[in-house]
Amino acid sequence: MNIIDVKNLRKTFTTVKRGQGLKEAIKSFLRPETTTKEALNNVNFTIKEGEIVGLIGPNGAGKSTCLKILCGLLWPDSGEATILGMQPWKNRVKYVQHIGAVFGQKTTLFWDLPPLDSFHLSKDLYAIPAAEFEERKQILIKLLEAEDIAKQPTRELSLGERMRCEVIQALLHNPKLVFLDEPTIGLDLISKEKLHEFILDLNKKQKTTFIITTHDMQDIEKLCKRIIIINHGTIIYDGPLEAIKKKYFTDKHIDITFSEQVKTFSHKGCKVLTKTPYKIQLELDTRTTPIQTLISHLLKQYDVADITVSDPPIEEIIKKIYRE
Ligand SMILES: Nc1ncnc2c1ncn2[C@@H]1O[C@H](COP(=O)(O)OP(=O)(O)O)[C@@H](O)[C@H]1O
Ligand SMILES: [Mg+2]
Repeated sequence: MNIIDVKNLRKTFTTVKRGQGLKEAIKSFLRPETTTKEALNNVNFTIKEGEIVGLIGPNGAGKSTCLKILCGLLWPDSGEATILGMQPWKNRVKYVQHIGAVFGQKTTLFWDLPPLDSFHLSKDLYAIPAAEFEERKQILIKLLEAEDIAKQPTRELSLGERMRCEVIQALLHNPKLVFLDEPTIGLDLISKEKLHEFILDLNKKQKTTFIITTHDMQDIEKLCKRIIIINHGTIIYDGPLEAIKKKYFTDKHIDITFSEQVKTFSHKGCKVLTKTPYKIQLELDTRTTPIQTLISHLLKQYDVADITVSDPPIEEIIKKIYRE
């Protein structure tokens, strides 16, 4: 069964161009010059119950706009969306009872109150029966290990701690469908892993459907069997992660700090991205050279102070997809 059915969604934003200084301000007031930006350009997809779909793309691609429309926070210019049998921006009050949403850059918790108090406001807002609320609250707090942090004022929490509480808040009313916009931005590794485990668990046990936007390759690899890649408001890929992972997600970035000066460096499968006498950043093609091979070569041949392995930014992967 399709839980989400999106057809020909379009959204443009019109903004007034503003110059610097008073003269320009008056000019733009008298004769405003506008620019329009196509945030979504004919977007189509369907999502089945129980899927976890990653919506990925560079900054400004239209991901947040898409989620905001699907949550009923924004109206599209044209197009249709049927979600859980409803039109999000039409019967919004009824609709929001069935969805959960976390927008990573914005908090839905009250800043000066402990999250626990915000949770109780959710109970009233969604008219959750008291017994059910208590039970879900306890389960969620336990799963996200938030016993102590939920009692501190939100403003005192770290980003990772706050995000765990945001997720609890979004799930208290037991939504069938959850939108997560950059939920792991700025999270430490442990919080990130907790969130991953939690999402997978909920998906497995309750068939909760998730759409997640992220810049983080670990989120994608851990959570999403299917990804939708969006660029300039247009979907450029929609399908299994596996199908493009082998082709495009094979590069790693390796940052090496040496304890000695290194004049030149070359190795099979490696491209030097930046170099100073003590530091090199490499792009490694793991199809030709496994990470272990490179690292053992480095440790054998050089006096190495530090090595970090990371994924290239999404932007680079998308450029690569375009090139081919
Ligand atoms: N409220 C707004 N007013 C004007 N332009 C906007 C607004 N929201 C988004 N945009 C523009 O629409 C495009 C898509 O934005 P967004 O959906 O936030 O991208 P993403 O989440 O993929 O980074 C960007 O060019 C952005 O500047
Ligand atoms: Mg965004």
